[in-house]
Amino acid sequence: MSLRSLWNTFRVASVSITVTFVVIGLGLLIASLAERETLAQPAPRVDALAESTDPCVKCHRRESPGIVAQYGTSDMAASGVGCMDCHGVPADYPEAIVHEGATMLSSPTPARCGACHETQVAQFNASRHSLPAYVAYAGAQDLSPSHLALYEAVEEGTFAPSQARNQLYALEGAAITQFACATCHNVGLPRADGSVGRCQNCHLRHTFSLEQARKPETCNACHIGPDHPQWEIYQESPHGISYLTGGHTWNWEADPGTLTTADIPAATCATCHISGFGASESTHDVGDRLAWYLFAPLSTRRPGWETNLAQMQGVCIACHNRTFIDTFYSAADAATEAVNDWVAESDAIVAPLQEVGLLTDEPFDQPIDFAYFELWHHWGRTAKFGVWMQGPDYVQWHGAYEILSDLADLREMAADLHGDQAR
Ligand code: HEC
Ligand code: HEC
Ligand code: HEC
Ligand code: HEC
Ligand code: HEC
Ligand code: HEC
Ligand code: HEC
Ligand code: HEC
Repeated sequence: MSLRSLWNTFRVASVSITVTFVVIGLGLLIASLAERETLAQPAPRVDALAESTDPCVKCHRRESPGIVAQYGTSDMAASGVGCMDCHGVPADYPEAIVHEGATMLSSPTPARCGACHETQVAQFNASRHSLPAYVAYAGAQDLSPSHLALYEAVEEGTFAPSQARNQLYALEGAAITQFACATCHNVGLPRADGSVGRCQNCHLRHTFSLEQARKPETCNACHIGPDHPQWEIYQESPHGISYLTGGHTWNWEADPGTLTTADIPAATCATCHISGFGASESTHDVGDRLAWYLFAPLSTRRPGWETNLAQMQGVCIACHNRTFIDTFYSAADAATEAVNDWVAESDAIVAPLQEVGLLTDEPFDQPIDFAYFELWHHWGRTAKFGVWMQGPDYVQWHGAYEILSDLADLREMAADLHGDQAR
């Protein structure tokens, strides 16, 4: 074989190898695009009520077509759950109305859901989303005896270290607070039939979609703003960035209890706090995985915190290794203590003023009341949440820096007040 024909054979061989690789490569690309396609475009939803002869459905398809269209494509409608399963009640039921010959509730309560979802309702009742959320603004004085018993049975529920916000609630008045405190905290509203809460705060009616409940936007209805900026923090965390840039390809409708990293490759609020994931089972008790009372001025450990911590880490372990998790937790514990020290310092500045009567008895009437409150309620909490949920800007510029600035203000205001007294 001449050198030239050897070269030609080599060329033919290398071209065909290249062609083979290109073909395999294209094949893989097409396959992966097709897979993305199936993930990005879930099967079109079927209207399970299309042929329904139920009078509620027939008339409401005319009167309020949106409700019937939304409910028709839900998994519950597909399973044969009908309008009356939630709305229908006996005539003597609390708040029952008569409507088109039926007795029913305009606003079905968790007692109705509980007929089929006993576990979720029991877990929800045992959480701070339940009565503790309501008591946080309205107080416990008007609860019925059975609601009071339910409230007192919530293990982490009666912990209430600061009454400052209740003073704001009274100060602002109902005209304002029905659109403020109540809108968020009524997630734990006591209901006339003895049940508690508004499941529809997270499960928007009438789709009751898992995708909607699992997405972090659902939580941002309430977990937002200077005193609990979990939504803002999440958006700047690596988990949030993964969600915001790739979430449209995730498998949001996986059956409860079957979620893996193949469905959800980075954590969302629900993954860490609610969903069954990794080694942890799903729970509607959002306190089940928390070790600290972070919302408190001075954070302390929760009852049973070691078990809770193991539940949370059982989620992390699906995506991170043990050393990574342990290193993160020790550093975050230390940061929590550091914020505690700053808040204790603010207490040490203000306590002597209270002792010698330099602060009025009225809440929120002196500039120092606001600085003292914001130091822990806004900046202290924000710094801690930023640490635990990976939001560096919130730890720093909306957290630690603001605390230092408020401490300087507090010292000066305190000195002025002492000075005025000396004069
Ligand atoms: C013949 C038509 C018709 C039928 C049958 C009917 N509805 Fe209605 N429904 C209406 C209309 C119209 C309204 C709005 C009434 C209004 O705004 O005052 C309404 C209102 C409601 C409301 C809101 C009530 C409130 O107080 O806000 C609910 C819940 C409801 N319907 C559920 C049902 C259920 C469940 C059934 C089956 C038992 C049913 N409807 C049967 C026409 C109908
Ligand atoms: C899984 C439980 C459930 C089922 C099933 C259900 N609803 Fe509802 N419905 C609710 C809840 C919860 C509300 C919210 C009330 C509130 O926010 O106070 C509601 C509210 C309503 C309202 C009044 C509020 C509005 O937006 O006008 C109407 C009307 C209504 N439902 C009609 C229907 C009809 C018709 C069906 C059957 C096609 C149906 N519902 C099936 C739970 C259900
Ligand atoms: C009569 C029984 C019944 C009642 C009442 C009922 N549900 Fe359901 N629900 C079901 C069944 C059955 C499924 C399972 C559907 C499936 O797995 O495909 C379900 C599934 C769900 C899901 C998961 C949806 C999904 O895509 O898998 C949510 C969320 C839900 N229900 C919320 C509620 C809420 C909130 C209420 C009360 C307002 C309620 N349900 C009342 C029977 C009921
Ligand atoms: C935007 C929704 C929203 C509004 C408005 C709101 N809160 Fe809250 N509140 C929350 C959330 C979310 C938490 C939980 C923070 C955490 O655990 O990190 C909370 C925590 C609290 C707590 C601490 C927990 C406890 O039970 O001791 C109190 C007290 C409280 N809020 C009272 C009020 C009062 C009073 C108002 C009105 C003056 C109000 N809130 C307005 C959402 C809200
Ligand atoms: C704080 C938001 C929130 C509230 C309030 C809430 N849920 Fe859920 N719920 C979720 C999330 C998130 C999921 C999806 C869990 C997962 O990924 O498996 C879910 C899932 C469910 C499911 C599907 C089965 C399961 O356990 O995953 C049912 C049924 C359900 N919820 C019922 C209820 C009922 C009934 C209430 C009221 C007592 C309620 N939920 C209140 C967030 C909430
Ligand atoms: C309608 C408003 C609302 C929505 C929506 C909501 N929350 Fe909450 N959440 C609250 C309030 C109010 C509290 C504080 C209750 C208290 O401590 O008094 C709270 C507290 C919490 C806590 C702390 C519980 C504890 O034991 O201290 C966690 C964790 C939490 N929510 C997670 C979530 C997640 C995850 C979602 C979305 C799937 C969500 N929440 C949706 C209002 C809401
Ligand atoms: C990567 C997991 C992860 C994600 C994602 C996440 N959290 Fe958290 N969250 C945590 C951890 C860890 C803590 C602190 C746990 C402890 O106390 O031991 C925490 C604390 C909280 C608290 C404070 C409770 C208290 O004691 O005051 C609330 C409220 C909360 N998260 C809500 C949310 C919401 C809402 C989102 C989404 C916007 C979210 N979280 C996203 C892991 C997560
Ligand atoms: C479903 C997968 C998943 C779960 C569950 C999960 N993470 Fe992550 N986490 C990720 C991904 C993806 C990244 C981004 C990795 C990178 O930066 O390359 C990340 C990054 C992080 C980082 C790095 C932050 C930074 O600024 O570099 C920390 C810290 C972290 N996670 C803590 C946790 C903790 C604590 C938990 C449990 C409470 C948890 N994660 C649960 C997927 C997950």
